[in-house]
Amino acid sequence: MASDYKVVGKSLPRFDAMGKVTGRAIYGTDFALPGMLHGKLCRSTMPHARIRVLRLDKARQMPGVRAIVTAADVPCARYGSFIKDMEVFALDTVRHVGQPIAGVVARSAAEAEAAAAAIEIEYEPLPAVFDVEVALQPDAPLVHPDLLAYQAMPTVLRQGNVSNQSLLSVGDVEAGFAASDHIFTNRFTTNMVHPGYTEPRAAVAQWDRDGRFTVWSNTQLPFEAQSTLAEILKVPAAQVRVICTVIGGGFGGKLRLGVEHYVAVMAKACGRPVKMVTTTEEEMATAYSRQPVVIELKTGVSRDGRILAKQGRIIVDTGATSGSGVGVGSSSALILAGPYRIPNISIEGLAVYTNKAPTGSFRAPSGPQANFAVESQMDIIAAGIGLDPLEFRLRNILRDGDTAPNGQVVNKVSLEECLRKAADAIGWSQRLDGNGRGKGLACGWWTTTSGSSGVYVKINPEGKVVMNTGCAEIGTGALTGAAQVLAEALGVKLDDIDIVSADSTATPFDHGAQGSRTAFAVGNACINAVEKLRQQIFQAAAPKLGVPAENLSLVDGVVSAGDKSITLAEIAKALQLSGGGLIAHGTFIAPPTPYDPKRGRNLVITTLNSPSFHAHAVDVSVDQETGEIQINDYVVAQDVGFAINPLYIEGQIEGGVMQGIGQALSEEIVYRDGHVANANLTDYKMPTAMDAPRVRSILVECPSEVGPFGAKGVGEPPVIEPPAALANAVAAAACRVSDLPITAEKVVRHMAMAS
Ligand code: MOS
Repeated sequence: MASDYKVVGKSLPRFDAMGKVTGRAIYGTDFALPGMLHGKLCRSTMPHARIRVLRLDKARQMPGVRAIVTAADVPCARYGSFIKDMEVFALDTVRHVGQPIAGVVARSAAEAEAAAAAIEIEYEPLPAVFDVEVALQPDAPLVHPDLLAYQAMPTVLRQGNVSNQSLLSVGDVEAGFAASDHIFTNRFTTNMVHPGYTEPRAAVAQWDRDGRFTVWSNTQLPFEAQSTLAEILKVPAAQVRVICTVIGGGFGGKLRLGVEHYVAVMAKACGRPVKMVTTTEEEMATAYSRQPVVIELKTGVSRDGRILAKQGRIIVDTGATSGSGVGVGSSSALILAGPYRIPNISIEGLAVYTNKAPTGSFRAPSGPQANFAVESQMDIIAAGIGLDPLEFRLRNILRDGDTAPNGQVVNKVSLEECLRKAADAIGWSQRLDGNGRGKGLACGWWTTTSGSSGVYVKINPEGKVVMNTGCAEIGTGALTGAAQVLAEALGVKLDDIDIVSADSTATPFDHGAQGSRTAFAVGNACINAVEKLRQQIFQAAAPKLGVPAENLSLVDGVVSAGDKSITLAEIAKALQLSGGGLIAHGTFIAPPTPYDPKRGRNLVITTLNSPSFHAHAVDVSVDQETGEIQINDYVVAQDVGFAINPLYIEGQIEGGVMQGIGQALSEEIVYRDGHVANANLTDYKMPTAMDAPRVRSILVECPSEVGPFGAKGVGEPPVIEPPAALANAVAAAACRVSDLPITAEKVVRHMAMAS
């Protein structure tokens, strides 16, 4: 019934558009303060070594230098999300190339860089490990020999180089294999890829004599930045204020502190504001990239194509710190099981340290890696038992009322609709695979991340409505979506809404712009605020109109009953004079999704909330001589619950597919002996507009019971299926490649092996 709505369901322009297209928006990289100095980091050149000597005297004498900071200037030793294994500056041991050892503050970034290069370090090399399977060997070098002494969440299970071992377990997997007619065992590996935001990480910090820090940064999570900074600086959180600038993309790579803690320490050391911006090389070699993984999957099926048992193991290469790898190892289990009915499951997730740069949460963390394995294997099995891949999926997918692998009962399951719509649009039933032409399918499910959101909604005397949210606009348009929800619920125009956002002191707490949750959670908080506002509005209007409050209605900014009416602006003005104005605090926290705790051990991510379902279909040509892959057509059928702003959702789908194509076909951070061999945007092959195929979006609307107007999270899912869909299409056209990225070189090698 989208047609009944006036603001939601419409492709209205976003509030941040004009500033961005005119260049007036102040991004983190633009932000400046008077008297500001510049910081640079001196980073490890060794993958694993003890620091024997750190000599700063020569650097101190360099022109323009104002301060040099090291671990001695940082009050807290170690911090981190699941395990406190991160050091701001290396304490005495470096664990990856690029690990910060010291920071230099100077008049200019160039002077700071020159001085950082003049810092002298003597290392005592230690044995290093770069491969997760080697890291699991009993005699492997330990990345953190004192791991068990670090503080950690009680749920993690640490041992050797393993930062967490989680298990998803249902039924009796051995009995399931015994009952199976066919058993398939496959191995998959995936690549480390950069989150791909266009704006580097940037922050400016100011320190006041009264001990307060103010940090302007392009972080996705101002409140988490505030609390982590307070922990690192050992000051009360009230002494740290984090304000988001305009943000040039995040994709999860700006969830955790990047440069904020460095500029904060530097600003205190020199008493002046300090700015730092990462270089492309620093980005490519030390960003929170997507974890590479190794996956082994063993699946048993009956003759008629029903999955009876699935056993698997995913080894997540977290790099030198566990970061979000613990969560990735855990959520991988849910994705590896997949949106399928499987009576017997045993899936182990291991998060493993190596001497590489720390990794992080990149858009749908674990999704593309695990889905690549599951959906590649679904096609391998279908071929093995002579079933159409679409038909094989339809025989096994979850349906309304089913119990998912983790024990959560799923409803509003639109997977069949997504699969059929994507298949129809790509011309699945008329496909002629082989001889360099092929079509591929992949499907999956994903969560709408929970966590609390608060908004203040304030109606100003001219009738303009301010949405004050702790959530940042990271470039998706999601805050415009939340504002559309507010406008619809309140009965005003989108143009009447102003947005104030993402300031840890001035805005209400929000779990933040992450996990496809922004429009969903902030939108629901707005609806809650509107319920309260309407009471205030009607109570104020009732005596003015001489009508009982319960008889009043609010439409298009006018409160009325019969022929009596008063505008919202008039009420807001009257209330401002008589009682401080018209304002409400709205909150939202997603209701917990029940699951079966007996089905898992050490799972830190246990459910998929308001799950979305999606299917991708792609048509490729593979050059039989060069192995070059050309995408002829790409279709996404995604259940968005309700499309609050169809145009921006299509934008998320097209962008997500492009990121997924990058991971599938060309992107890879390549390590050689612990050093990144392609730390630049020439040798790291991110797709450009020239590589973009036509992407067709089909928005399926199977409403969430929780989301605003039925909306589900939409931002992350589009990046999940491209690697699997492309691998399946390339397999149909030429050959199966099970290690990402599927480069032309690999395709040629596999074709040669097959012939
Ligand atoms: Mo996302 S990886 O939750 O920004």
